[in-house]
Amino acid sequence: MTKIAVAIDGPAAAGKSTVAKKVAEIKGYTYIDTGAMYRAFTWYCLEKGIDCQDEAACVALITKVNIELKPNHVVICNGKDVSREIREPRVSSQVSYIASYKDIRLALVELQRKMADTDSVIMDGRDIGTYVLPNADVKIFQIASVETRAVRRYEENISKGIQCTLEEIDADVRKRDYIDSHREFAPLKAAPDSVLLDTSYMTVDEVVQNVIDIIDAKIEEKEKRA
Ligand code: DC
Repeated sequence: MTKIAVAIDGPAAAGKSTVAKKVAEIKGYTYIDTGAMYRAFTWYCLEKGIDCQDEAACVALITKVNIELKPNHVVICNGKDVSREIREPRVSSQVSYIASYKDIRLALVELQRKMADTDSVIMDGRDIGTYVLPNADVKIFQIASVETRAVRRYEENISKGIQCTLEEIDADVRKRDYIDSHREFAPLKAAPDSVLLDTSYMTVDEVVQNVIDIIDAKIEEKEKRA
């Protein structure tokens, strides 16, 4: 089978992980949720009572943390299953600070690149096409209006039993977009060779089919060249 790397980047709550999970299932690729790694580290800092805006204190903890992504989207941090905790608003509201620290990014990016070394992967995040996997075969930049994204994330949280209000989620999404796209190191931005996919008026299945069509065209091209 042709080895493929797919990068899906875009702003918060654009539906990247929903699409990436489905595409991974259909194509038999390994799905790597890089946001879950930043979230797991944020959860750890909060557990230790560290202020997430204190860069030095957070960076000092990076060597003490072991983050594992397991099948079925289970996230383990130092042996504990934190899959649910990392989606809570207290983590969401702090994770962009953590993700803006260069030393934390360098450590997590190293892990991400290792994961993509052997298998065909679909990786979602903010800097996959621009920094983590600059040679990815397919790069998608997935967007949707901020209002659409806030409603989608609100409904997702409620369905998972995570208490929140739409106003809180809207404010959180806007704040994270701002911090993620204005940080100095590897900010959120579309790679020049990415395909822009506005999902505001598309169903999940339509987006999935679009991404699969782009991947299949790439595979055909790669196989012809081989
Ligand atoms: O995709 P997500 O909402 O779970 O990501 C959580 C935060 O992590 C997001 O606000 C930005 C950051 N992030 C990042 O900076 N780089 C990545 N590759 C993935 C996520």
